[in-house]
Amino acid sequence: MSLGVPEPMNDLVTFEKEGAVAFLRIANPPVNAISPELTRQLIAAFTQFEQWPDATCLVIYGAGRTFVAGGDIASFDSPGFDPSSFNSFLGRMEASRRPVIAALHGHILGGGLELAMACHYRVASPEAHLGLPEVKLGLIPGSMGTQRLPRLVGVEKALDMILTGRPASADEALSLGLIDRVLEGAPRDIGATFAGYLTGSDAVIRRSGDIALALDGASTAAIEKARAAAAGKASYPALAAAVRCVEAAATMTFAEGSRLEASEFETLRLSSSSKALRYLFFASRDALKVPGATSAATGPDIRKIGILGAGTMGGGIAMNFANIGLPVTIVEQSEEALARGLDLVEKNYLASVTKGKLPMEEARRRIALLSGSTDFNALADCDLVIEAVFEDMDVKMDVARRLGEVCRPDAIVATNTSTLDVNVIAKAFGRPDRFLGMHFFSPANVMRLLEIVRGDATAPDVLQAAMTMARRIGKTPVVSGVCYGFIGNRMLEPYLREAEFLLLEGATPAQVDRAIEGLGMAMGPFRMMDMAGVDVGARVVTARAAEGGLPDDPSYRASVLRLFELGRFGQKSQAGYYRYEGRMAVPDPLVSDLLDELASRHGVRRRSGIPEQEIVERLIYPLVNEGALILDEGIAARMGDIDVVWTAGYGFPDYRGGPMFMAEHEIGFDRIVDRLDHYASVRGNAFGYWDVAPLLRDRTH
Ligand code: NAI
Repeated sequence: MSLGVPEPMNDLVTFEKEGAVAFLRIANPPVNAISPELTRQLIAAFTQFEQWPDATCLVIYGAGRTFVAGGDIASFDSPGFDPSSFNSFLGRMEASRRPVIAALHGHILGGGLELAMACHYRVASPEAHLGLPEVKLGLIPGSMGTQRLPRLVGVEKALDMILTGRPASADEALSLGLIDRVLEGAPRDIGATFAGYLTGSDAVIRRSGDIALALDGASTAAIEKARAAAAGKASYPALAAAVRCVEAAATMTFAEGSRLEASEFETLRLSSSSKALRYLFFASRDALKVPGATSAATGPDIRKIGILGAGTMGGGIAMNFANIGLPVTIVEQSEEALARGLDLVEKNYLASVTKGKLPMEEARRRIALLSGSTDFNALADCDLVIEAVFEDMDVKMDVARRLGEVCRPDAIVATNTSTLDVNVIAKAFGRPDRFLGMHFFSPANVMRLLEIVRGDATAPDVLQAAMTMARRIGKTPVVSGVCYGFIGNRMLEPYLREAEFLLLEGATPAQVDRAIEGLGMAMGPFRMMDMAGVDVGARVVTARAAEGGLPDDPSYRASVLRLFELGRFGQKSQAGYYRYEGRMAVPDPLVSDLLDELASRHGVRRRSGIPEQEIVERLIYPLVNEGALILDEGIAARMGDIDVVWTAGYGFPDYRGGPMFMAEHEIGFDRIVDRLDHYASVRGNAFGYWDVAPLLRDRTH
């Protein structure tokens, strides 16, 4: 056998010999995910090692950009899913009497870390990250990760890593005892170097499964604390299961703990919460695939950003780019507005420093990346310009026209409008192929969701460049077509409509909020409107009315308009749908009187004791119906896109998968259609509120 020449065995796992060291190379691009076939090949390759008596040790490493970054999540849904073959392989490998070394680089996650922990030694390159992120998919590690990690790093650290899913850097992993050495170099080379340390000396075989763990005061306290926290998050059953398994690692034998883990894993795999979270994982990935834009289209390199308008949104948007080290030029209409905007951004950064979230030096670096001007010409050399000026079509068209004059011909220009027609603004800009909407959510430096609005003429490479940039700044982008409110706010409209009608009919804001929060929404509609600003909400309604976009129903969104008239703007004026004591919302009898008065003005009969079920059905079912219309019209490309919008941007519970997933799997489209028909008959349907989307009707049998 010649030295260093790989013996091709098969596609995914290759067995190689070099001197007396055996190597096992895993190559399953893009992330070397474990699959049944990979497991089969791992076993076959390991058998070759076992059958080579002269080998002193075995090094396992990954080809490409990472070691094994997890299991094949799609296979978790298959009815015949069975991790036992991989798990027993880990046991067989750990039992080896010759040392097995994991040489790690890139992302060593989930099953990848479980594989590494079953090896006797772990060496990693400095950029490596190691973690067990299963909890994010509503699962626990299912290949003895909950048993091996506490044995290696202790109960407290293991709980932290498993319950948060947060990966540890190579240095952290070294200090935790999760790895034995950090070495620079290619994975195969660092494996070979480490093998060199072992040969010669009588290498001790250290099996993590053999480590005896016992509970002490600190670990008992950590378990109790984690158990209590998990109990408060019953919608995520993986948390409590993880605590039980980590506890078992310290109180049971390895075999018993592994059996417990296997049974907990299987229960979770079949749970509705994990199915929903897995669905969302794929939906966010699919949302990145833009129909009509090939992944090869990269667009221009974006290095310099321009922002127009330094108000609520402009400042937050600017921070996203400074955070990744890009210079940002902000243009405002006056020196005062500019100073106010820049000041606010600086305060935001300093607040992060005070909270210990950002080192001062880094905050300074980011602040220094921002520059301001009152001259449009300052935007002339920007690659991407985002305008966030007042929500007024005349103003938007005027600035778009001026941007068309000053920006480079190949620059991408985006509007942050929430309600205006992107196609009209694109036309004013003059190069509609280089124009699109980038709809950030407030606060723009915090909210994950970013709706990328594709105009009729937006070029595919422009769209792709915006998507790529969205990912770079850590957003969850979803493409929407042009329509009023895009995906999210358009669906919000019937939801708010019914929420307000219920108030006229006799429900209280607190009752409606409670019912919706009971469903798992982060915030009910009235607490949300109070937070976003009743004035903002009312202005949207009036502007839409002026365009003739509203039904001819005088009671439509009557309460938000009335509160606005009274100057009850929500939290910012300490009174809206609620009264505020600090940040605490308190029911306000004045609001009850006002609703009484509105009901009699609009001839609405008041009832008491409106059931929670009615509240949920009347808010959520029309929202789902609007989602179906959006799909029908091609505004959203996929059902999953809608669910990503609602879970990433509107506080919809991720363990329910989003409104469309919930409608299909938890409620059933039949029932939704039934109930929409029901409300049409009991409430009347003069304004088409209960018209069922054809797509929904088609999905019923
Ligand atoms: P804002 O009123 O806080 O800020 C607008 C800023 O634009 C002001 O500072 C103003 O001085 C500046 N401005 C106006 N005309 C200008 C011009 N010709 N040249 C340069 N600067 C000019 O408004 P906000 O809330 O930041 O909204 C901006 C845009 O973002 C709007 O289109 C809005 O619909 C959209 N948006 C707002 C959200 C929110 O929650 N506030 C959420 C998502 C989108």
